[in-house]
Amino acid sequence: MTVAILPGDGIGPEVTAAGLAVLRAVRPELTYEHGLVGAAALDSYGSPYPSQTAALCRRSAAILFGAVGDPRYDGARGELRPEVAILRLRKEFDLFANLRPVKTIAGLEAASSLRPEVVRGLDLIVVRETTSGLYFGTPKQTTFEDGIEVAVDTLVYRAPEVERVAQVAFALARERRGRVTSVDKHNVLETGRLWRRIVTQVATQYPDVALDHLLVDNAAMQLVRDPKRFDVILTENTFGDILSDQAGMLTGSLGNLPSATLGAQAPGTTGPRFGLYEPISGSAPDIAGKGIANPIAAILSAALLCRYSLADETSAARIESAVTAAVALGARTRDLVRDDAPFLGTSAFTERVLARL
Ligand code: NAD
Ligand code: IPM
Ligand code: MN
Repeated sequence: MTVAILPGDGIGPEVTAAGLAVLRAVRPELTYEHGLVGAAALDSYGSPYPSQTAALCRRSAAILFGAVGDPRYDGARGELRPEVAILRLRKEFDLFANLRPVKTIAGLEAASSLRPEVVRGLDLIVVRETTSGLYFGTPKQTTFEDGIEVAVDTLVYRAPEVERVAQVAFALARERRGRVTSVDKHNVLETGRLWRRIVTQVATQYPDVALDHLLVDNAAMQLVRDPKRFDVILTENTFGDILSDQAGMLTGSLGNLPSATLGAQAPGTTGPRFGLYEPISGSAPDIAGKGIANPIAAILSAALLCRYSLADETSAARIESAVTAAVALGARTRDLVRDDAPFLGTSAFTERVLARL
C-alpha cells in the first residue's frame, strides 16, 4: 500500500516531514512515495500538478499534502499558478467533503486571541464543500467590454452537490453532539436559497440531529462571540475557506488545524476510503525556511489519514494523544508562545511528539 507525500512549497516540506515521521512511526510497513506539486513542480516540469504526480496519486491509498503557493508565481495566470494543484486534486478525485476539526489542545488557551474561557474545551468541525461554488463555476474569465476590464467568477451549486455534502455533515453530527449549523447567504444569493432548502430536506432523514441555519456574516460573528455553541458547521466552498481560518485561530494558531478531504463512501460500506490530508494553512512564505513552523496541523492530518484512509483508529488516536501529551509537557512552537517565551523549532517539537508515541 502506497501513501503519496506531496510537500509542495514554503513551509510545506518542513511540516510534511513531521507528518511523515509520525506516519512512519505508527505504520512502518507502508510505502511512502514523494511527488512534486505547486511551485516546486512548476520549476521542474512547468506544471503545478504534473502527470507523474497525478499517476502517483492514482495508485495511492491516500495523499499527505503540505501547502502550495510561492510569491515568485503571484503574477502567474490560469493553470500556471501553484494553487491550481490543490484544486485539480480535489476535482480529479471528486473530494467534495473537506473536514476541518477545530479543537483546542489543553494548555494552548493562552495562545488564542480570545479569552481562555471562551476557547477552553472547544471542539467543533467545519464541513466545507470543495468541488463546486465560486472556485469552479464557469464562466471564469477576465475580458474587456467597451475598453473596460471585467472579471467574472460564477457561483453555482447543483442540488446533488449540496445534498451529498449535507449527508456527510449530518452523519458526522450523529457521532458527535448531534447538531448541524448550516451557513449560507440565502437573503441575497440564489445558491444560498437552494443550499438552505436542500439542507432542510436532508435533515428530515436525521430526526436525531438538530439543525439550525445562520447567515454567513452572523456566523462569523458567533464564531468569535461563543464558538462553543457550534458542533458541526456545514457550508459552501468560499465561506468554508474563510470561516475555517478564523476558527483555526480560536485554537491559538492557524498552524494547529488539520484537514481531511473525502469523496463519496461506497453505499453501505464503512471501511478505508481515499482521501487528501493537509494543514488548512498555506505555504507561509513569511516564515518558510526558518525551521520554526508549527507542525501540529500536519501531524494531526497524518492522524486523520490513519482514521479515514487506513481505517486505523488505533494509530489515529495514538498520534492525537502524543500531540496532546507533548503540549501538556510544555512543548510549544513560536506561534504558540507570547513575547520572549522559549519555544521549539519544527524538528525539535516533532521529536517531542515522536517521544510520546
Ligand atoms: P498562510 O496560511 O500561508 O499564512 C497565514 C499566516 O499564518 C502567516 O503569518 C503564517 O506565517 C502563519 N502560519 C501559517 N501556518 C503556520 C504554521 N504551521 N506555523 C506557524 N505559523 C503559520 O496564508 P497566506 O500567507 O495568505 O498565503 C501564503 C500562500 O499559501 C499563498 O500563495 C496562498 O495561495 C497559499 N495557500 C495554500 C494553501 C494550501 O496549499 N492548501 C492554503 C492556504 C494558502
Ligand atoms: C485552502 C486554501 C486553498 C483554498 C487555496 C490554496 C486554493 O486556501 O485549502 O483553504 O482556497 O481552498
Ligand atoms: Mn484557505
